[in-house]
Amino acid sequence: MRDLPYNQVLVVGGGLAGLRAAIEAADRGVDVAVLSLVPPVRSHSGAAQGGVNGALANAEDGRDDTPERHAFDTVKGSDYLGDQDAIQIMADEAPARIIEMEHWGCPFSRTKDGKIAQRPFGGGGFPRTCYAADKTGHYMLHTLYEQAVKRRVKVYMEWASAYFVVDGRRVGGVVAFHLPTGQFEAFQADAVIMATGGYGRIYARSTNAIINTGYGMAMAYLAGAPLEDMEFVQFHPTTLLGNNILMTEGARGEGGLLFNAKGERFMERYAPTAKDLAPRDMVARAIQTEINEGRGFPGGYVNLDLRRLGKQKIMERLPGIRDICISFSGVDPITDPIPIQPGQHYSMGGIGTDVWGQSELPGLFAAGECACVSVHGANRLGGNSLLDTVLFGKRAGERAAQVVKGKPAPRNEKAAQAALERVRKAYAGLIAGTGKEDPNQIRDEMRESMFELVGIFRTQDKLVQAVRKLGELSERYRRVRACYDGKKFNWDLVRTFELGGQLLVAEVIAKGALARQESRGSHYRVDFPNRDDQSWLKHTLAHYSSQGPVLKYKPVTVAKWQPEARKY
Ligand code: FUM
Repeated sequence: MRDLPYNQVLVVGGGLAGLRAAIEAADRGVDVAVLSLVPPVRSHSGAAQGGVNGALANAEDGRDDTPERHAFDTVKGSDYLGDQDAIQIMADEAPARIIEMEHWGCPFSRTKDGKIAQRPFGGGGFPRTCYAADKTGHYMLHTLYEQAVKRRVKVYMEWASAYFVVDGRRVGGVVAFHLPTGQFEAFQADAVIMATGGYGRIYARSTNAIINTGYGMAMAYLAGAPLEDMEFVQFHPTTLLGNNILMTEGARGEGGLLFNAKGERFMERYAPTAKDLAPRDMVARAIQTEINEGRGFPGGYVNLDLRRLGKQKIMERLPGIRDICISFSGVDPITDPIPIQPGQHYSMGGIGTDVWGQSELPGLFAAGECACVSVHGANRLGGNSLLDTVLFGKRAGERAAQVVKGKPAPRNEKAAQAALERVRKAYAGLIAGTGKEDPNQIRDEMRESMFELVGIFRTQDKLVQAVRKLGELSERYRRVRACYDGKKFNWDLVRTFELGGQLLVAEVIAKGALARQESRGSHYRVDFPNRDDQSWLKHTLAHYSSQGPVLKYKPVTVAKWQPEARKY
C-alpha cells in the first residue's frame, strides 16, 4: 500500500487566517502544509475592503487611542456577549500584528507624516482602522502569501475537504477531493487547523464569494466539535443593490452619508451620536426599517452618497468602490449616489475554540471566520475581522506547533483508509443514485428561506417556518443527484456534496435563533425586543446529533466591563 501524505500540521484554508497559522508553525520548526480549495490568493480574504483595527494612535486629528479603548469598543459592540479575556488579548496584540504586516511589506495607506493611515469605522470611538485604500484584504493576502512562499510552505491547491480522519475523538487528518483530477486523498497530520472562512452562501443576498459555503464548520460539527453562537449572523448595512457586493464601511468612515427616499439622514433618528457610523447591526436594522416602512426607494434600497467627498478623495481612498459601482451598477459615485441594501456578510459564530484556537477535539484547531473564540460576541465591529484572522491565526499556528513538536501522534492508517472510503462512497452516491432532486433548487430555496425567515428581523413564527423548511430540504437532499458527472473541475459535484453540510449549519443557526428569546446584537427578535442578561448572557453551544442539534450553554467571560445599555 502506498504511503499517504503526512505533515505535522495541516492547515485547511489558504486565506489570511490559514496562511498566518502556517507561517507561524513553519517559523516554529514544524513541517506544515496548507490544503486549499482555491489558490490562496483567490481566497475570500482578498475581498475585505475597509481595513484592520489596532490602537496605533496615528489619527491625524491628534486623538489618542489605547488597546483598552479598543477592547471596550469591541465589548460594547459585541453587545456584551464577547469574552472579555479574549477581547483584551486581541486589542493588546493588535498593534504588533499590524506592524508585522507593515514590515512584511503590506502597502498600507499613509498619513502625511508617513505613518500607517487610520480611518473611523462603525462603533469605534477612534479612527482605528488601518487601511490600504479600499483593498486591504487583497494586499494583506498577497503579503502573507509571499511570506508563506518564502518559507516554502507546501500548498495543496484545489482540494475540497470532505471529512476528517478521526481516531476515537482525535482528529488526525483530512480526506479531500482534487478538483483538477477527480481523485481522493487522505492527508494525515498530528494537528489540523481549520481556516475555512464563513458560511455566507447559506443566505441569499450575501457579500460572500460562492466558495463560502460554511462546509468547514459542518466538518467540525459532524466530528463532534460544538458550534458556538451560530445564531449571530452579521448583515452588512451597505451592499450594492442587485448583486450585494460589499460597499465598504470605509465609505462612511471617509464621510459618506446615508439618505432615504425622502432625502432624510435617517441615521440621526436611530443613533443620534454615532449616526452613520453606528455599529453594523444597528445601521442594517435602521436601513431595513426605512425600506420596510416605505421610506426607501422602489426595489428596496436607500442611497449611500459619496459625492461630498469629491473626486480626488474618492479616487485616492475608494478607487475599488468606484470601479465596482461603475462595472456592476452603472453608477459613478463621483457624480451619483450608490443604491445600497443590507446583505449577509459575516458569521460571528463558528467552531468553538479557546484563545489558542484549540477546539474541544484533540488535534483540531480553528482560526478566522470559521472559529468562535469568542471576540465578536453578538455583533462584530468592522475592521476586527482582518485582525482576528492574523492574530488568532498566529496563535493557532503557535499552539499547534507546540502540541505536535517532538510528539508525533500515533498514525492510524486504518482510520485514514476508512475515511477515504467513506468520502469516495458519499461522492459516488451523488452521481450514481436514482434520486431526482436538483441540488441547485434545494440550495436556492435554502438561501431564500434563510434570508426571509432567519434574517435581520426574526420572530417565533418565522423561525419555526425556517426549521420546518430546512427539515423538508434535508429530506429532499437525501434524494439529490448531482447534475454533472465529469471528472475534471466538477464544481457541481463538490457543491452538491457541501450542500448537505450547509443544511446542517443552517439548521444550527435557525434552532439557535429560535431558542434565544431575547434581542442582542445582530440577533433581533421582534417578539423579544430587549436584551435579557438575566437569562441570556451566555454562549450557545450546538452539538451534532442525528436528531438535530443539541443546544447547551456556557457562561460569558465578563471581566472589567459589566453589561450596560448599548447607546450610540
Ligand atoms: O466594510 C468593510 O470594509 C468590511 C470590513 C469588515 O467586515 O471588517
